[in-house]
Order: sequence, then C-alpha cells, then structure tokens
Amino acid sequence: MNNQPIGLFDSGIGGTSIWKEVIKLLPNENSIYLSDSKNAPYGEKSSKEIVALAIKNTEILLSKGCKLIIVACNTATTNAIDYLRKHYNVPFIGIEPAIKPAALYSKTGAVGILATKGTLSSKLFEKTTREYAKNITTIEQKGAGLVPLIETGKINSTETIQLLETYLKPMLQFNIDHLVLGCTHYPYLIPSIKNILGPNVNIIDSGEAVAKQTKTVLEKNNLLNKIETNPKHQFFTNGNKKVIESILQPINLDLSIKQLDF
Ligand code: DGL
Repeated sequence: MNNQPIGLFDSGIGGTSIWKEVIKLLPNENSIYLSDSKNAPYGEKSSKEIVALAIKNTEILLSKGCKLIIVACNTATTNAIDYLRKHYNVPFIGIEPAIKPAALYSKTGAVGILATKGTLSSKLFEKTTREYAKNITTIEQKGAGLVPLIETGKINSTETIQLLETYLKPMLQFNIDHLVLGCTHYPYLIPSIKNILGPNVNIIDSGEAVAKQTKTVLEKNNLLNKIETNPKHQFFTNGNKKVIESILQPINLDLSIKQLDF
C-alpha cells in the first residue's frame, strides 16, 4: 500500500503548482495527476456540477490505486470535499484560500482575495471568512476569464496582464498588504501580479502548506513510501497535452504525460 501513488486532480494544469510542492517535500512518493481541462473552468459551474466532477475524478484515481487524494483545486475543495470525505475511505487533502494567515499578519487590516466564483460563493469560504476575517476588511474579486487564459498557454499574454490589472488595481485603493491566491492556477501568474501590486503586498499561496499537511496525514496513517527507488509521476489530461507538457518541461523527473478521455 505504501508505494501506491498519491492522486491529485484539478480542472486543468493549476494543481501542478501543488504537485510541485508535494514532490519537493515528499521525493519518494509516486503520483498520478488528473488534469480535467475539458471541464474547465469549474469556477463557473454550479455546486452540484462541481461535486459530480469531483466524484468522477476521485473514482478514476481510486481505480488506479491511489492511497490518498489531494483535491488540488480550491473550487472543488470548497464545494465537494465534505462529500468526498463522507463517501470514500482514503484520506483527502484539500486547498482553500489562506484567509487565516493573511488576516493574522495584515498590518493595514485590508486583505485582497482573488478566487473563482465557485469558491467565493461556497459555504466553506463563507464560514472561513466569518471565522477568521471578522476584524479585517476583505476585498473579494472573482478571477473570471483567468483560468481559460492559463489553460490555453497565455500566461504572459497582454490579455492576461490587462485582466489582472482590472482585477487587482482597485484593491490598492483599499491599502491591502496581502493578496490571497484562491485558485491553484494563479501561482503561475505571480510574476505579473507582483508587477501590478508592487513590493508592499505579500502574495499568499497555500501550496507549501498543502504539501506539509499531506506529509502529516501520510505519517499519521502509516502511508509514507520509504522505498527509495525512482518514483514515477503519471499525468493524464483530457485537454491539450502541449500545455501541461510546457508547464512541466523544466522538471527533471521521471514523468509520463498521456492524453486520456475522462
Ligand atoms: N484550479 C482551480 C481552483 O483552484 C480552478 C478553478 C476553475 O477551473 O475555475 O479553483
């Protein structure tokens, strides 16, 4: 069981930002990543549709023998993780906007949150904000259109930068000192975001925290892979293989990237 892979899924390539952190912290682990690009963006779908997609992805990962599943998508976590935990036996790790540290460390008392419509309208997001951000001002912004641009490889395009400017510049008027990235696709936009927001705004992305939590849960369940052979990392996409290839191309590991209809 311990050398069985860790499974991850997202509505596309975004969750690879989480995968990279997980592999860095847990270099012995094998992994299987599902890039459900065909159904992106999840953020514009209803909660019911998001749960159905999360079930479909979970069942594929379980059929491939995954010992733990990382829901590498804020939108799927905030809408579906309760359901998944209730209905399947493997441990699930999720990712949701890191409002708690942002609220804790903010000096100006104003924090920006960039996330999908599906995340911002979820019950879990509402609960977290109510619990941790009651003493600060939060400026919530939907990142509509960003995921499709990233999914088509337009990370550094003028169109993407202009859209980011429209979403982020107004936050500066509120004197934010933290921006929470509430979507796993957005870490790929960090260089452009930094250019727009300048050096006084801290960008918070939860990739590393997810990796640490994964390690803790594997340890607790006695599931860590202690065998030191070359781990295998399999990627399956139902979208354009070239986009995920280009994002993983600088990584020097044993990667297999395949097209799969799911
Ligand atoms: N990566 C997903 C997230 O973290 C993107 C959602 C989408 O497909 O809209 O929310």
